[in-house]
Amino acid sequence: MNTFSFASRHIGPRENDLQEMLKTVGVDSMEQLIYETLPDDIRLKKDLELAPAMSEHEYLSHNIALAAKNKVFRTYIGLGYHQSILPAVIQRNILENPGWYTAYTPYQAEIAQGRLEALLNFQTVIADLTGMELANASLLDEATAAAEAMSLLFELRDRDQKKKEVNKFFVSEEVLPQTIDVLKTRAIPLNIELVIGDHEAFEFSNDFFGAFLQYPGKLGHVFDYSGFVAKAKENNIKTAVAADLLALVKLRAPGEFGVDVVVGTSQRFGIPLGYGGPHAAYFATREEFKRSIPGRIIGVTKDTDGNFALRMALQTREQHIKRDRATSNICTAQVLLAVMAGMYAVYHGPKGLKFIATRVHNLAVTAAENIEKLGFSQLNSSYFDTILIKADAKKIREIAERNEVNFYYPSTDAVAISLNEATNLDDVNTIISIFSEAAGKDFVKALKLSETTHIPGSVERKTEFLKNDVFNSYHSETDMMRYIKKLERKDLSLNHSMISLGSCTMKLNAASEMLPLSYPQWGNIHPFVPLDQAEGYQIVLKRLEKQLTEITGFSATSLQPNSGAQGEYAGLMVIRAYHESRGDSHRNICLIPSSAHGTNPASAVMAGMKVVVTKSTETGNIDVEDLREKAIKYKDNLAALMVTYPSTHGVFESAITEIIKITHDNGGQVYMDGANMNAQVGLTSPGVIGADVCHLNLHKTFAIPHGGGGPGVGPICVAEQLVPFLPGNPVIPTGGDTAITAISAAPWGSALVCLISYGYITMLGSEGLKKSTEYAILNANYVKARIDEHYKTLYSGERGRAAHEMIVDCRPFKAKGIEVTDIAKRLIDYGFHAPTVSFPVAGTLMIEPTESESKTELDRFCDAMISIRKEINEVTAEEPNNVLKNSPHTLAMLTTDEWNFPYTREKAAFPLEYLSENKFWPSIRRVDEAFGDRNLICTCAPIEEYMEE
Ligand SMILES: Cc1ncc(COP(=O)(O)O)c(C=O)c1O
Repeated sequence: MNTFSFASRHIGPRENDLQEMLKTVGVDSMEQLIYETLPDDIRLKKDLELAPAMSEHEYLSHNIALAAKNKVFRTYIGLGYHQSILPAVIQRNILENPGWYTAYTPYQAEIAQGRLEALLNFQTVIADLTGMELANASLLDEATAAAEAMSLLFELRDRDQKKKEVNKFFVSEEVLPQTIDVLKTRAIPLNIELVIGDHEAFEFSNDFFGAFLQYPGKLGHVFDYSGFVAKAKENNIKTAVAADLLALVKLRAPGEFGVDVVVGTSQRFGIPLGYGGPHAAYFATREEFKRSIPGRIIGVTKDTDGNFALRMALQTREQHIKRDRATSNICTAQVLLAVMAGMYAVYHGPKGLKFIATRVHNLAVTAAENIEKLGFSQLNSSYFDTILIKADAKKIREIAERNEVNFYYPSTDAVAISLNEATNLDDVNTIISIFSEAAGKDFVKALKLSETTHIPGSVERKTEFLKNDVFNSYHSETDMMRYIKKLERKDLSLNHSMISLGSCTMKLNAASEMLPLSYPQWGNIHPFVPLDQAEGYQIVLKRLEKQLTEITGFSATSLQPNSGAQGEYAGLMVIRAYHESRGDSHRNICLIPSSAHGTNPASAVMAGMKVVVTKSTETGNIDVEDLREKAIKYKDNLAALMVTYPSTHGVFESAITEIIKITHDNGGQVYMDGANMNAQVGLTSPGVIGADVCHLNLHKTFAIPHGGGGPGVGPICVAEQLVPFLPGNPVIPTGGDTAITAISAAPWGSALVCLISYGYITMLGSEGLKKSTEYAILNANYVKARIDEHYKTLYSGERGRAAHEMIVDCRPFKAKGIEVTDIAKRLIDYGFHAPTVSFPVAGTLMIEPTESESKTELDRFCDAMISIRKEINEVTAEEPNNVLKNSPHTLAMLTTDEWNFPYTREKAAFPLEYLSENKFWPSIRRVDEAFGDRNLICTCAPIEEYMEE
């Protein structure tokens, strides 16, 4: 075996399994299988032009050399990003632990209680610090969270405001520039008029439905917003505030002065800067708006036995069901980062957080006092961590950069300095020495931190926070390590067994891809440093853009969108800008097949388009005639078609080129949803097929781990005519020549995790990527062949083949009283996470094994599915007390003295032999969804308070 080949570690089946697998599938060779799967006219005619594959060892050396090209200066730029200290116990046991980072979104609550608890902790931190009633378990970044707040307030306009089409939204000029840019992008399609100005001069009127403020302001001044918020309320204007989480430890909570929504980032809670992301944003609001909150909320409920249990609540499902009536398209969020930020609060507790925040304030005051002694004036009368010095910015900058220090220079005569958790007295002395040199005065060293406060009583925090046990128990490393382990053990991740989630591509997230995330030269780079300090990043990001452009067969790539759904929105906004540039701004119809993922119509609506749904045929394909009819009917206004390929039914539809031609002939651009790109790489491409833009889910196809529901990266790759419109950034120029405004906060989105995909492509090379795709298709068709006798596969290609995933029909089992959920829960007893349930067809399972699973693991999964099928045969609808309905079975059930079930304990928990040596126990029985939604509780509290009776 060639131990230098990464492909042989990434791909699961061994060489000697191949023949048997092909035989089971019923083909002689891989080439024959691919021939029978993929339409001939869309096959790539040549190999991808990528650099030769590196071995893992070579890649890590290469990566270290690139990291060394980044210059890690002491950075006090602020603007929403601050260096923080990731406690090593969290780094090692969560960020570097596949038990946490390979988990899926916690839809199967019974095997996800660990991360659900961690997310409940996060929500509690947010609710306590903001003083709001409800918080969600993360959004993508502060700027997009602000846009979600604006959309929510727009949606919440009262009947009269809607009737009068009140559409003005005030945005304070104190708001961060990247946030204002994203608000601009999101306001246009909703026809919201942004009015940007000085909040102290704002003329309240009922032309406005909402207002947005920054707390503290972008240059550090802490305003008392209570008067503004009260006046806004009198004028029926709802308010949202972006608040700095660490500052809230010292400042009055916005909830206390009556705001309606609070958003922000939790990056300061131990998350590396990573050149812009990923970091978890938060969104907190009032209970009365609970049904409109974007993203996922974790809520408390009970299980079948009445025990405490957690699960995703409410609109987690509702937003998706709403489709084109959804107010948000958020799907993948920033779960891993939210888990880490929540754990930061668990580890430090309220006392630790107060220590950190007070110290940061003292550092800022010390710097200010000493700089003032040099004759400079400090302009913020009230501040937490950021001071604003009147000084010659050019002169200061020259000295600062010579001393490897970055400040923010808002104008030619001002310097803003944001101190942070990682700053110490020596660093403050370096800052003072820079100003001494500029003033031409002797440097006088500060000997200790000042304890004077510059937070006036009117804005000072008086209320306690984080009083629950969880935030006051685990402050030694041993206790913390064990708490993290306790939660981890409750969750089933890829380090236990395969997670065959259709449309999610839960493949290997190789250790070599992940290791660099811990290197400080990648972690400690602020997104707004001068480009020459981020040379390593610039090389990686440019190469990754080039690799993805080649793989998709397009002309350029933007890495800015930080989820698949953001990619959809970005792509559609680019299409919109393209039409506008040709004088076609009336083009606003978006055709979307009925089988599309819920984010597609939600994104189209957010991009100001009107969704027209096209039908599917009985065989699951797009109904070409229906599509043609609608394309012709709307030809004057057709903007785009959104199509997933291979389809969400797991099929390479042979009509795809015709479908694309129809769209083009009628003036539309083709948006390809690249969620299923794992079936295309190296064999075909969206560009070759004829699309105009696609998004990729780097967190599916390109090996970024799912993280329990994020981070994600959703780059868009575009054809020539769309390149000029790729999104920009207001601070660091990027994007096309006539770039649309920003889609997300950071210029290159979640740059840190782009390293993973860069590593994946660089180590696989052209041959390894193609082979991965072939094995993804082989593995899916192997599972299909093995379970074929027992389950009906709903759709397949013209030659009978699935693509990289397949849908199996579970609806016939209803006659036996068995629902698809029963099969999903029974799989837990067999040690497996369920495949995707009821998407895109209700009552079905969508199985996507990926190339990384070995034949042995696929066989175990197939054996489990077949065994469950036999169990279905044994039950009747009349007797619901059966092994499927009672699943999953917990250790507590098995070890009680009473056993009132009509089957053995062995059958319940050890139905197949492999389980005797590798058993996974769910920590709870089935959750009661309805109970939880009726009694919505989304923060930590004493358990007794949760229960109805
Ligand atoms: C087909 C399809 N499109 C779009 C998305 C949205 O991607 P994301 O969750 O990264 O926003 C998904 C997510 O699962 C998907 O399966």
